[in-house]
Amino acid sequence: MVQSLSHAPAPSAPDLAVEAESLVKIYHGHRGEKRALDGISLSVPRGSFFGLLGPNGAGKSTFINILAGLTVKTSGRVRVWDRDIDSDPRGAKAAIGVVPQELNLDPFFTPLELLDVQAGMYGVPRSERRTMEILEAVGLADKANAYARTLSGGMRRRLLVAKAMVHAPPVLVLDEPTAGVDIELRRQLWVTIRELNARGTTILLTTHYLEEAEQLCDRIAIINHGALVACDTTSNLLRRIDGKALTVTVGSDLTGIPESLAAFSPELKPGRRLVLRYRPSTTPVSRILDAFAAAGLSITDLSTDETDLEDIFLQLTSSAAAP
Ligand SMILES: Nc1ncnc2c1ncn2[C@@H]1O[C@H](COP(=O)(O)OP(=O)(O)O)[C@@H](O)[C@H]1O
Ligand SMILES: [Mg+2]
Repeated sequence: MVQSLSHAPAPSAPDLAVEAESLVKIYHGHRGEKRALDGISLSVPRGSFFGLLGPNGAGKSTFINILAGLTVKTSGRVRVWDRDIDSDPRGAKAAIGVVPQELNLDPFFTPLELLDVQAGMYGVPRSERRTMEILEAVGLADKANAYARTLSGGMRRRLLVAKAMVHAPPVLVLDEPTAGVDIELRRQLWVTIRELNARGTTILLTTHYLEEAEQLCDRIAIINHGALVACDTTSNLLRRIDGKALTVTVGSDLTGIPESLAAFSPELKPGRRLVLRYRPSTTPVSRILDAFAAAGLSITDLSTDETDLEDIFLQLTSSAAAP
């Protein structure tokens, strides 16, 4: 059923769904100037599931609100589906659907009515409206006539996804869609979004949940204080932090580091423990265990800690921290 919402890219479909160049946004608030975006350049390839990751206040919402024509940029250039937001704002808007961060639904509308109003706003002719299909795609067909106020938080969130899909945009943007959504509904939402992506919709998602980005996105940009600190495929980003920590508890007291282990620069910890950091891609863990055997040390316990996106995120966002 999601099939019919898809966008088999037309021959003229651009390679890049979104392109931003030197994007700057300065807010002029009562507490002075705030440089929310400090010259961000990034590209979202067509068909990707792209994650824009960053801590609160990094500039994520500002970035996507500019793409969607909801916030006016200070300078820079933005193209959505090859349409410049300055010279073709209507074209750019037609190519993008936005699921906002806030749950802003009129409580007295039913999903059916809501999508109809939205379709009207986008000028989708009645004959081309596929309201029920869209509601089915987000798992809300049986709630088509229920008042929005009677829907659970997760259902409202999915209704916002449906609303963003009404004009069948090739690019779907979701701003922190799972903030405050419970695990089960979060999962349902991901099934929906993944399916839309599998059928050709380019997904741009902002999140401050690293795990979410790691699991869902094929490309990730990390921003902090309005600046881009990394932009790569998820697997490349994870490869950058090819590292693990092995904690070994040995059967006898240690007075120093045995020679056979010196190459691994272990840290001596209380409780007969040694912590060794190694790169799984170049150092098989068996080599480390052999070194323990060579030192005549028996092993009574061991555990490993995976590094994940969180490590690189902390590395990148702490080194790029502004005053
Ligand atoms: N309308 C506004 N007026 C002034 N400052 C704003 C406004 N909107 C956002 N900001 C500031 O810009 C920065 C980036 O905000 P935002 O884009 O919402 O970040 P994120 O979505 O990553 O949490 C923050 O410091 C925020 O306080
Ligand atoms: Mg935000």
